[in-house]
Amino acid sequence: MSALHVNGRDHTVDADPGTPILWALRDTLGMTGTKFGCGAALCGACTVHMDGQAIRSCITPIAAAEGKKITTIEAVTGGSDRVGAAVHAAWVKHDVAQCGYCQSGQIMSATAFLQSLPKGKQPSTDEIDSAMAGNICRCGTYARIRAAVADAAKTLA
Ligand code: FES
Ligand code: FES
Repeated sequence: MSALHVNGRDHTVDADPGTPILWALRDTLGMTGTKFGCGAALCGACTVHMDGQAIRSCITPIAAAEGKKITTIEAVTGGSDRVGAAVHAAWVKHDVAQCGYCQSGQIMSATAFLQSLPKGKQPSTDEIDSAMAGNICRCGTYARIRAAVADAAKTLA
């Protein structure tokens, strides 16, 4: 048994502490918004937040989350998170998603990035591209992602 604090709640999961967080989220807790892509920290589809930092849940063991707060796409786009709401609205406005598979990871990276900015800061295109560089989109939605992140930053300023 292992403990995980996810989206404001404590959970006990029937999994070895070495199990990647991704599988505890998806298979044990039924939070399937976080996706499996490469399993090797190369694509970003599995991105969640650990104490506010974007991490790759496919390679991060449950043991590494001890005493830390995990946040998933279910909480970020679920309503009350201010930055998440701005990002979600910008994603809808710019019609970012195509097949959608990479998008929860994209939103989690975008949200962590915007949360890390000083209040009112408008990121440059290079800063946005750098922040989002670890998230691959096979559908090539990069231009819309860039526009949506910039738009969300304006909303939050
Ligand atoms: S599934 Fe984790 S980075 Fe690709
Ligand atoms: S929207 Fe299809 S992989 Fe990104």
